[in-house]
Amino acid sequence: MMVCEYQPGLEGIAAAQSSISNVDGQKGILEYRGIRIEELAEKSTFLETAYLLIWGQLPTSEELKEFEHEVRHHRRIKYRIRDMMKCFPESGHPMDALQASAAALGLFYSRRDLHNPIYIRDAVVRLLATIPTMVAAFQLMRKGNDPVRPRDDLDYSANFLYMLSEKEPDPLAARIFDVCLILHAEHTMNASTFSARVTASTLTDPYAVVASAVGTLGGPLHGGANEEVIQMLEEIGSIANVRPYLEDCLQRKAKIMGFGHRVYKVKDPRATILQDLAQQLFAKFGSDKYYDIAVEMERVVEEKLGHKGIYPNVDFYSGLVYAKLGIPTDLFTPIFAIARVTGWLAHWKEQLAENRIFRPTQVYNGLHEIAYTAIEER
Ligand code: ACO
Repeated sequence: MMVCEYQPGLEGIAAAQSSISNVDGQKGILEYRGIRIEELAEKSTFLETAYLLIWGQLPTSEELKEFEHEVRHHRRIKYRIRDMMKCFPESGHPMDALQASAAALGLFYSRRDLHNPIYIRDAVVRLLATIPTMVAAFQLMRKGNDPVRPRDDLDYSANFLYMLSEKEPDPLAARIFDVCLILHAEHTMNASTFSARVTASTLTDPYAVVASAVGTLGGPLHGGANEEVIQMLEEIGSIANVRPYLEDCLQRKAKIMGFGHRVYKVKDPRATILQDLAQQLFAKFGSDKYYDIAVEMERVVEEKLGHKGIYPNVDFYSGLVYAKLGIPTDLFTPIFAIARVTGWLAHWKEQLAENRIFRPTQVYNGLHEIAYTAIEER
């Protein structure tokens, strides 16, 4: 069948059949394997949610224990990867460092035994386990310090926060960070997931799949928006400046970062949960003037753009949470990647189960039958 109608951004075009997650953009509902995100945020952990997304059902307590054990014991990165990362320019963006490091893992494990469940399990465990270590290692090394060894006695999120700060985190901070990872773990056919599926469809290795998705996530219209939100809140600087700032943006037809979504036409349910998490953090560790500016922004944007279905998306409040946890702004998107590797791997497995290589068509609007002009005649 030949469908030749061009749809910019592939809006409304189904690129795959999937049973991993579902979004109802009119009602503001997100489900992972049929379970509402609110329930997972309240009751689950990131690793349990990762298991659910990747293997299709919630693990039994034995299965979860085994999975947690495997991930815990694969956290260390090879010294060659660490040495390679040491050579990266410290001024480089951590997303670029992560993309290069994830791709480099493929140099060690390039055997593409894609029909072997052991190979698949190993790749899942290794990627989930080492990506946080790589993010933390780059953060320390770019400041001239040695990376911190992962702590086997700490859970997934507590260990990551420990590797970043060399301090054992407060339990509430670690739990809130874990919930943030749950919220960012998967989100249907977004740009980076599409990228992962296209790469997976060529039957390359999962490290290339993740590296290609990391590259896609980094852009400011996708995961990179969370960094820009914090920069925007700093630029606005005060509640009084919110309205003039937004009016100026609208006049220039500039996009307001952290707002709008291709699918949600109401407030993103993850933004609601993240706002609540931010409030919990402020209640324990002190308030933040940028939160008050953010709440005022949400009010004014709703007044001005609510009729177009423009509301806060996941990136709007996540930066405030990460900033309060003491995380540097340019690590916000790598943290998004730590979580989303779960969704990419679930889609990688699903793509392999019913693979056909992606090879869309195009609507050619160029010239035909043009004679070659010799260089001296141009
Ligand atoms: N600020 C102001 N106006 C907006 C915004 C925004 N953030 N988002 C959409 N609009 C307006 C557009 O100007 C357009 O108006 P028009 O019809 O009058 O021309 C209309 O809403 C539709 O916008 P599109 O750009 O066509 O929407 P699209 O679905 O292509 O883009 C996107 C979605 C990229 C998320 C967009 O809303 C945006 O750029 N938002 C800001 C960046 C951002 O926060 N990205 C993170 C998204 S969540 C994630 O990826 C994890």
